[in-house]
Order: sequence, then structure tokens, then C-alpha cells
Amino acid sequence: MNRSTETPAAAVQNAAKQYKQGHRRVEALQGVDLEIEAGRFVAVMGASGSGKSTLLHLLGGLTRPSSGTISIGGQNLAELSDRRLTQFRRDRIGLVFQDFNLIPSLTAYDNVLFPLYAAGINSPDSSRVQDMAVRLGIHDRLEHRPDSLSGGEQQRVAIARALVADPAIVLADEPTGSLDSVSSEAICKLLRELCDRHDRTLVVVTHEPSVAVWADEIVVLKDGRLVERFLTADYADAQSLATHYQSLISRGEPAVV
Ligand SMILES: Nc1ncnc2c1ncn2[C@@H]1O[C@H](COP(=O)(O)OP(=O)(O)O)[C@@H](O)[C@H]1O
Ligand SMILES: [Mg+2]
Repeated sequence: MNRSTETPAAAVQNAAKQYKQGHRRVEALQGVDLEIEAGRFVAVMGASGSGKSTLLHLLGGLTRPSSGTISIGGQNLAELSDRRLTQFRRDRIGLVFQDFNLIPSLTAYDNVLFPLYAAGINSPDSSRVQDMAVRLGIHDRLEHRPDSLSGGEQQRVAIARALVADPAIVLADEPTGSLDSVSSEAICKLLRELCDRHDRTLVVVTHEPSVAVWADEIVVLKDGRLVERFLTADYADAQSLATHYQSLISRGEPAVV
């Protein structure tokens, strides 16, 4: 089958997003075009402020673009009312936020199940949660509330929550940001498996080459523009990928001496 004729899992066309900061207008994204094939694992890299989170928020329908279009699984998000968009997001998209966004009054277990409760599923399959919790190393923490979990544990709860409804596309903003390298690798393996075995599409924002190397391809943002897209298979390891990435983001800037 020629995959390129299939509907892309995500398509961004000429998307721009401006924000106001006081009297200043910030061009967070400028004319970004990006198509992501279903079943791919794509890492989004770029320096702080380059527009990575903005791109992820547009893909997740959390903000609307100032211009351009965003489609997920062939659905143009602009055609959905806010209410339908919320529903669509709940059913189709798994989101892992940079600051976790866990509900403080709920246990980890109920936080993980929250998307199912919100969808009206009141007696969800708890074995699925248990299984995922074991894989993520949080099975003995499920009865705790977020304030008694470490940053890394909260992050893993947020990842479990994003995966519980089995969404077709998972969007994650720095999902390994507060994890040590062992936990980080476990998360990367889990994400990789979602792609390989379950045919899920993943878009993961990271600035860590050791995480990006798990992806199929990497897109690099600079000053709100997509400056490069390349296959990880072209690089032997995280180190050579890091060298290439550094050369891209420092291009055109004076060398640091
Ligand atoms: N809600 C917002 N209000 C105002 N400015 C914002 C907002 N979100 C992002 N920005 C600005 O947009 C630019 C891109 O931000 P962001 O997408 O968060 O970048 P990254 O995730 O790559 O660090 C930055 O200059 C940031 O200050
Ligand atoms: Mg960010």
C-alpha cells in the first residue's frame, strides 16, 4: 500500500500564530507547513521560544491559529465549534502537557481515568490502567494525590492519562523533562512501542537528542519557522544527531568563542 496517499494523521498548512505581549506582538509561528503520516513518531526540536509548544497546542486544538489550517485525521479543526472541538480532542487526541495539568483533588488513579469519566464511561477497564501503571512504574503510587508525588511521578501519571482512551494521535510537550535518564528511556520505549505495535501517531516536543533519537523523524523550528525535517535513521546515534541539530539552530548566528 502506498502510505503517502492515505489521509495524514496531522496536517498543518501555512499556519501562523501571533500573541500579544503588552504592546508587543510576538510571531510565535510563521507560515508553518507540516504533514505527519499516520503511524509515525515525530520529534519537534528547537530552542526555547522557537514555537514548539505553540505548534503542539495548535495540533491539539487548544488554541486556534491566527491564519492557516490544522487538520487531524482529515478533520479541519476550524470547522468544529468549541464544544465539538473539546469532544474531538477527548476522543481522538492524547495530550501530555509540559506542566502535567493534573487535578489536585483526585488520586493518580482517578487522574489517569479522568478522560474516560469525562467521556461518560463510568466503569472503565481497570486492568488497562494497572497494566500501563506497571509499565510506567507508578503502580504503587496510584492511590496518592498529585501533591504527594514527585515531579517525575506526576509526569508519568500525565502520560498514562494521555494514553488511557487509546487516542489515534498523542501529542506530548517535553514528556521526559523532569525524569532521570532511566525513567526517560522507559518512556521513550513505551512511546516507540505505541507506534510500532499499535500504529499510533506521536508528536513529541523535546530538546534532548537522547529522546529525539527514538523518533522516526525530526522537525526543527527556529524563530517560529520550520527550518528542517530529517530522518533519525540518517544518524548513527544521539551524539551525531545532537551535532547536526546544534549546527542547524546555530546557523546564521555568530560563533560562540
Ligand atoms: N500565551 C502566550 N501569550 C503571549 N506570548 C506567548 C504565549 N505563548 C507563547 N508565547 C510566545 O511565543 C513564542 C513561542 O513560544 P512557545 O511556543 O512556548 O516556544 P517553545 O515551546 O519553543 O519554547 C515565545 O516568544 C513566547 O514568549
Ligand atoms: Mg515549550
